Amino acid sequence: MKKLLVFFVPLFAILLAWQTPAPTPNPAPNRPRPAPVNQDSLRKERQRMVEEVLAEIKGKENMRADSVFNNIKLFKNISAERMVRLMDEGWSKALGVGCNHCHNVNKWSDEAKPDKQLARDMAAMTNKINKEMLQTMKGLDEKSSINCTSCHMGRKHPAKRLD
Ligand code: HEC
Ligand code: HEC
Repeated sequence: MKKLLVFFVPLFAILLAWQTPAPTPNPAPNRPRPAPVNQDSLRKERQRMVEEVLAEIKGKENMRADSVFNNIKLFKNISAERMVRLMDEGWSKALGVGCNHCHNVNKWSDEAKPDKQLARDMAAMTNKINKEMLQTMKGLDEKSSINCTSCHMGRKHPAKRLD
């Protein structure tokens, strides 16, 4: 019996220590903590803009995006409505930004904001990783893929460390 106690008491102590959360160190001053993932406060405003664009192109929602809009280099093969919804649910949400992060919202085809072209380049990078790397990597399912969310997780700047 005594032998058993000698064994179990330390074991219990170890388990207890394991479950007690370590005290969280104070965050370094001056370093703003990144917004928690999925706390996307800009969503309502984006939905309003999506509705606005869809109202502007009423009757042409199902036509190809490049025949409805002015400056399409990427989304040649999807409908105008799908493209606009992808802008919201795909890109903006993945980055946690409003439409105005990439756009002059008074002139959607404008190219003045650098993030607009950056987004195209990011899409090309993502495609390249998927087609040339992941999908040809031995031992992985050929459908393996990443998208904007995989890296961005609701943030403009992908994390380099876990907080
Ligand atoms: C991360 C950057 C980014 C965000 C955020 C973004 N867009 Fe875009 N948007 C683009 C890019 C890039 C294009 C051009 C796509 C192409 O070349 O095929 C585009 C094109 C468009 C166009 C077509 C303009 C034209 O006439 O050529 C509309 C309309 C549009 N976006 C609406 C929106 C709306 C509405 C939102 C917010 C819900 C939004 N975008 C958020 C990058 C963005
Ligand atoms: C493999 C990881 C990865 C993927 C996938 C990815 N990005 Fe990025 N993205 C980055 C990195 C890294 C940066 C530079 C971050 C920084 O400046 O801190 C960045 C920066 C950006 C920026 C500039 C942000 C700013 O304001 O400085 C935009 C816009 C952007 N990405 C859009 C996209 C979009 C849209 C997609 C999906 C089509 C995408 N990204 C997919 C890693 C990725």
